[in-house]
Amino acid sequence: MNARQLALLALQKIERQNAYADLVLEHLLAHSRLIPADRHLVSELVYGVTRRRRTLDALIDCFARRSAHQQPPDLRLILHLGLYQLAFLDHIPPSAAIHTSVELARQVGLGSLTGVVNGILRAYQRQALDGAEKDPLKPLQDTLPTDPIQALGIRHSFPDWLVRLWWERLGPAETEQLCAWFNRAPHLDLRVNPLRADVNKVIQALAEVGIPASPIPEVPGALRLGRPAGDIRALPGFAQGWWSVQDASAQQVVHWLDPQPGERVIDCCAAPGGKTTHMAEQMQDRGEIWALDRHPHRLRRLEENVQRLGLRSIRPLAIDLLSLSAAAEPPAPLPPWQSADRVLLDAPCSGLGTLHRHADARWRQTPDQVQELAHLQGRLLQVAARWLKPGRLLVYATCTLHPAENEAVIQSFLNRHPHWAAEGDPLLIWPHHQDRDGFFIQRLRRCD
Ligand SMILES: C[S@@+](CC[C@H](N)C(=O)[O-])C[C@H]1O[C@@H](n2cnc3c(N)ncnc32)[C@H](O)[C@@H]1O
Repeated sequence: MNARQLALLALQKIERQNAYADLVLEHLLAHSRLIPADRHLVSELVYGVTRRRRTLDALIDCFARRSAHQQPPDLRLILHLGLYQLAFLDHIPPSAAIHTSVELARQVGLGSLTGVVNGILRAYQRQALDGAEKDPLKPLQDTLPTDPIQALGIRHSFPDWLVRLWWERLGPAETEQLCAWFNRAPHLDLRVNPLRADVNKVIQALAEVGIPASPIPEVPGALRLGRPAGDIRALPGFAQGWWSVQDASAQQVVHWLDPQPGERVIDCCAAPGGKTTHMAEQMQDRGEIWALDRHPHRLRRLEENVQRLGLRSIRPLAIDLLSLSAAAEPPAPLPPWQSADRVLLDAPCSGLGTLHRHADARWRQTPDQVQELAHLQGRLLQVAARWLKPGRLLVYATCTLHPAENEAVIQSFLNRHPHWAAEGDPLLIWPHHQDRDGFFIQRLRRCD
């Protein structure tokens, strides 16, 4: 299979089986013999088409006799692939994008429709790309709805409910910036492990293999890579535990918790261990960190990370936190209630701050799921809070930008727990402001 055939196969699975884009791609690429450049193209096509699905459908609607949703499913995907290359990829000549799409139609048994593919893509090329003013979305101009939220949703390819959520909070100009930011390829940040290396050592080792990396000023120990790095496990320092991959916003969570050597910390939703291992590094690997998570397979990834980083203070344990909500005391070997110096609840969430990393997430989440998650987060926070000693700090964090999962969860908890208080304002990281993942971080203090 060539790159475009493989991309089509991946898109078929994502659309028809509702499969996760990253899992489908990982599986297909693991079993293919494509050269690295073609593997990169497959990822670019699959993630790009998945992300821009709504815009691409709207472009089909401009040129085809039948709407995108009435097209034969494979034809629609082939048109998505062709239009995506024409509209959003600069490195593929339009003639190649059109020719390979026509070939793809022939290869999958749609030989009678090659004329349709050719006609739609050429009509798009003439209207959007020929002439002095190249504007990939020009064909949409006269067809966009008058409702500005729907229009923005079509141009940037987001569902209306998400655009409305941000519009109400940020206004039109910033919503547009945020949508555009989420459509960019994600950057890669590292967290240097101070027990094994320092920032300069890592920068130098990466420079030696041609990867520029620079410190992120407001986050100690964080580096941003200046270009795509390929297989990160092959980079210098990975196997030696000098660094981990972690976005700068996620790194900030542990800085806000500020765990100290010798303390007992409970990380309530710990897997795959990004923040647990960060805590152990900050605590010089001295103390006791309980890494709890309900999914044993995710905890196995945590254990791999712990081993690679050479940490000893972490105690992983598979447990559903909700099973403890009525418990007089947690079962052995868990520590008793009110015995932790610090608690972290990095709660499961809708991930609306990391939509750039998960191409299909914008189509998966719904307002109903957000409400369900908010309910779960409230219940988890009640259990997590029981572990904290009087007078100490708990940090609640999510990588979402939905107030129902953030401010509302905190407010509802504080309303029901008068001996707790918010320690200062939350940190709400907007990606388009700070050029990193969206996050919400709130410190809570037990005051009795
Ligand atoms: C946001 S992720 C945690 C990421 C992790 N802190 C890190 O930095 O790598 C949320 C985690 O909560 C776990 N989780 C969800 N419901 C849970 C429950 N009822 N009890 C314990 N863990 C739960 C999920 O398995 C998931 O690993």
